[in-house]
Amino acid sequence: RQQERDQIVKGHEFAAKLYHYILNNSAEGKAALDYLRSRGFTDSLIETFQIGYAPPRWDVLAQYLEQRQFSLPLMEKGALIAAKSSGGGYVDKFRNRVMFPIRDARGNVIAFAGRTMGNEQPKYLNSPETSLFRKSRVLYNFHAARAEIKRTSRIVLFEGYADVIKAWSAGVHNGVATMGTALTEDHALMMRRSAEQVVICYDGDEAGQAAAYKNLDILAKAGLDIKVALLPNRLDPDEYIESFGAEKFRRDIIEAAVPTDKFKLIHLRRNFNMQDNEAKLRYVRTAIREVIAHIESPTVREHHLKELANEFSSISSFETMKQETNEIREEQQKKRRSGDNNDFSWNTVMN
Ligand code: UTP
Ligand code: MN
Ligand code: MN
Ligand code: MN
Ligand code: MN
Repeated sequence: RQQERDQIVKGHEFAAKLYHYILNNSAEGKAALDYLRSRGFTDSLIETFQIGYAPPRWDVLAQYLEQRQFSLPLMEKGALIAAKSSGGGYVDKFRNRVMFPIRDARGNVIAFAGRTMGNEQPKYLNSPETSLFRKSRVLYNFHAARAEIKRTSRIVLFEGYADVIKAWSAGVHNGVATMGTALTEDHALMMRRSAEQVVICYDGDEAGQAAAYKNLDILAKAGLDIKVALLPNRLDPDEYIESFGAEKFRRDIIEAAVPTDKFKLIHLRRNFNMQDNEAKLRYVRTAIREVIAHIESPTVREHHLKELANEFSSISSFETMKQETNEIREEQQKKRRSGDNNDFSWNTVMN
């Protein structure tokens, strides 16, 4: 088993080298190299992340693996190649894609993400799950980021591979990303074991912000202190860095990341048209009910209420908002108590 794993890792390491070589040194790789450069991926980044290119042929990798005497059935098991449906032989999994090697926490290449340079779907083709590649447990770039994560006790969580790489070039060396799948409890615990704080730095678009919101609970449950970075104009971190540069990214985005409550309030605003007085009123009530009333610390509650009262002084006063908050809290506590009672009676019945 261990031997099998070692062979599959060796196959991946070999594939990464081959794809990287093809990108840098072949005529076939020229278009991919141009593509990467046009997106601001420097030679040094291509080197550091061992980015490569899988040419548009059927079995480049399969042939090299055979030549090097790798066991092809084993390489199939590792999802580097696939058995042809008819007849014998194997074909490559990735064709005509820019290749990003994915490493486990020890730094072994265990999978790939291949990006199309055109509009084909999917945009990123990820290796399927194998005995070595469990998407729910792998964080892209975790191995390389580890030193900086330890040093700062902070981890920056991005949505995409390109974001991690661009952030790295911008001097943010504690960035990781999930595999295009949901963030899991395992991911959160893995992060918590090496850092106190996480900065969520997801895309500024609707999907990214919704995902950030959705992940708050799982990160909080793992015991992480959470900050959320806010990107303007629906930009993602990669695009922001290309437009505004490294220093501004670090200062205005990463260092300016806001605490959870603040993020929730900002996130909530998207649903209300702030030009309209009715909508303002509904926003204030919703903000109190959904966010502020849930805050345990009276000081923090008061802080947010003051900000709200300042901004919406035409709607209501601080005193009134505070009164409403307290009423809602009492209501919620009553509900919680009767909820507990319900659970209790259920348990008694069940037992
Ligand atoms: P995005 O659509 O935001 O892509 O998906 P991106 O990271 O900005 O990529 P570029 O800049 O266009 O190259 C975010 C992440 O979701 C996963 C990938 O991990 C991607 O980085 N994803 C997205 C997939 O796995 N497959 C897809 O088809 C699309
Ligand atoms: Mn190289
Ligand atoms: Mn996105
Ligand atoms: Mn993106
Ligand atoms: Mn992007």
